[in-house]
Formats: sequence, C-alpha cells, structure tokens
Amino acid sequence: MMTIIFQELAIHSLTSPAPNIFRIRLSAPTLAEQALPGQFVMIRPLNIQEPLLPRPFSIHRVLGDRLDILFKVRGAGTHMLARMNKGDPLEIRGPLGKGFRFGEEEELVLVAGGMGVAPLLFAAEYWKGLFQGKARKKLRVFLGARTREELLGLDAFQRLGAELHVATDDGSFGEKGPITRLLQRVMVGRVTGVRLLACGPTAMLRSVQRWVMKKGIPGQLSLETRMACGLGACLGCVTARERGGTVSYVNVCQEGPVFDAREVVIHDRT
Ligand SMILES: Cc1cc2nc3c(=O)[nH]c(=O)nc-3n(C[C@H](O)[C@H](O)[C@H](O)COP(=O)(O)OP(=O)(O)OC[C@H]3O[C@@H](n4cnc5c(N)ncnc54)[C@H](O)[C@@H]3O)c2cc1C
Ligand code: FES
Repeated sequence: MMTIIFQELAIHSLTSPAPNIFRIRLSAPTLAEQALPGQFVMIRPLNIQEPLLPRPFSIHRVLGDRLDILFKVRGAGTHMLARMNKGDPLEIRGPLGKGFRFGEEEELVLVAGGMGVAPLLFAAEYWKGLFQGKARKKLRVFLGARTREELLGLDAFQRLGAELHVATDDGSFGEKGPITRLLQRVMVGRVTGVRLLACGPTAMLRSVQRWVMKKGIPGQLSLETRMACGLGACLGCVTARERGGTVSYVNVCQEGPVFDAREVVIHDRT
C-alpha cells in the first residue's frame, strides 16, 4: 500500500532549460523511492504571503534520491514557483494518482506534446530499467512542441536509444505541424506488440485517442485536469469514464491521471 507523503522540502536547485520553463530538483529520498511514472505531486510554496492552493505537477525524473519537476509558467502559482530560490521551502504531497502500466510489449511508443514530455521521460527511463537493456525492445518517441526552444528531453531520449520523431508548430525543428500527423504517417500499416503512452494538450490527446482506437493499439492517456486538492476531497477534477457500456464519473487525481484510451472521455477542462 502506497503512503501519501506530506512534507516540507527545500529546493535543491531551480534551473530554466528554456524560456518560461523551469526545472525544480528536490532532495526527496522517500518520494523518489516510492514514485512511479505517471504519478504526480501537489506543490505549494511556503514562504509567501498570499494564500495559494497547491498545484499538480508530474514527476519528471527520479535520479537516485533526487526528484525533478518540469513546469511551464502559466499563472499565479507557476509564476511564484519560478521566482523561488535554492533552499526555499515547498509543501509537497505525493506520490499521487495512478500512473502508467507496463506489460510484455515489444515496443513502447511515447507521444508528448509540449509539457506532456514531463511524465514521459520518467516513463521511458523506468521502462528501460525494467529489463535493463537485456531484451531487444524498441522505444519510439514522438516529441512535439510549439518551437525548437520548447522541445525538451531530446538528449535524454537519445541517450536511452530511442528512435526520435520531432515536430514543431512553427517548423523551427523537425517536421512542421502537429506531432499526431507525424505519428500517423510513421506508424502506418499494421502495428503489433506496441503499447502507447501520451501526454499533452487536449486536442492532441483526442487525436491520439481516435487513432489508437482505430488501430487497436493499447493506449494510455495522461490528463492534466485542473486540481485543487489532489486527494479526492474537493471533487474538482471529475471526468467521465466508460466501462462495459456504463459511464461513471471518477476523480482524475485518484483514478488517473493516466487512463486507458478506450475508456476515458476527454473534456475541455482548461
Ligand atoms: C496530474 C497533472 C500533472 C501536471 N504536470 C505538469 C507538469 O509536469 N508540468 C507543467 O508545466 N504543468 C503540469 N500540469 C499543469 C499544471 O498543474 C498547471 O499548469 C498549473 O496548475 C497552473 O497553475 P497556475 O497557478 O500557474 O495557473 P492558473 O492561474 O491556475 O491558470 C493560468 C492559466 O493557465 C491555464 N491552465 C491552468 N492549468 C492548466 C493545465 N492543466 N493545462 C493547460 N493550461 C492550464 C488556465 O486556463 C489559465 O489560463 C499538470 C496538471 C496535472 C493535473
Ligand atoms: S483534485 Fe480534489 S478531488 Fe481531485
């Protein structure tokens, strides 16, 4: 049984790999030991005057007893986090939610749009670690972003031996256009032995969902619904899930954020 840890942690380092995008590294041995790919943490800065609800962020990487969060500045919460300094205290809740599930697949395909890369790098590193390079399994990564500057994780995926396919909205790197178009072109024809994981904007997830359903590929989608508590208490993150012809409403923070592509109904939440 996984324990949810509430703790106060000091920022180990805060860097900015791209304009408006930040990486917080925490020294968090217990969290790092328990974290699974696709899970998230709720983070709240502690040394501020304004009342602020915690914000959800995927676990981006686990490096020994260190844990990384990668985020883009969007509004008040992320703006405050970006202005923090090394040593500043954060309240951290986690690891939360149900992450990606792996099986006997011969190939793992990752589809990341923008900040959707955050949970998928951890997924790739964890998956590779499961068989420690002993089995001849293939990792294929489709990485999409608005611009070249916002393409993150290229080197890390390359180090994992991934076959990389890249697209940017403005064509500044890789193919110009949506990453889903590239996905469908590269993976044309019959696809077997594959498991696909995706995280990114709503439109991208919908497109991936339609495509995996049509192709009969087992797919999992990680949703970035807005959340206030992350614990199942506020009911602010509900989404519909269809199982065996029955629709039920579930908390994304507890039953997700990762869902089976055949079951989840993707709403416009943000
Ligand atoms: C499980 C989970 C994991 C997440 N992982 C990451 C991550 O690894 N990296 C990361 O950068 N973000 C991630 N997010 C999104 C992140 O939580 C939000 O960007 C953040 O809460 C925004 O807070 P804010 O106070 O800065 O913005 P707010 O003031 O709350 O909102 C400012 C603007 O940002 C928009 N916005 C808010 N939330 C989202 C969202 N989820 N998606 C798109 N636009 C949004 C709002 O519509 C508004 O226009 C994740 C969300 C969830 C639920
Ligand atoms: S965020 Fe409060 S119930 Fe899910």
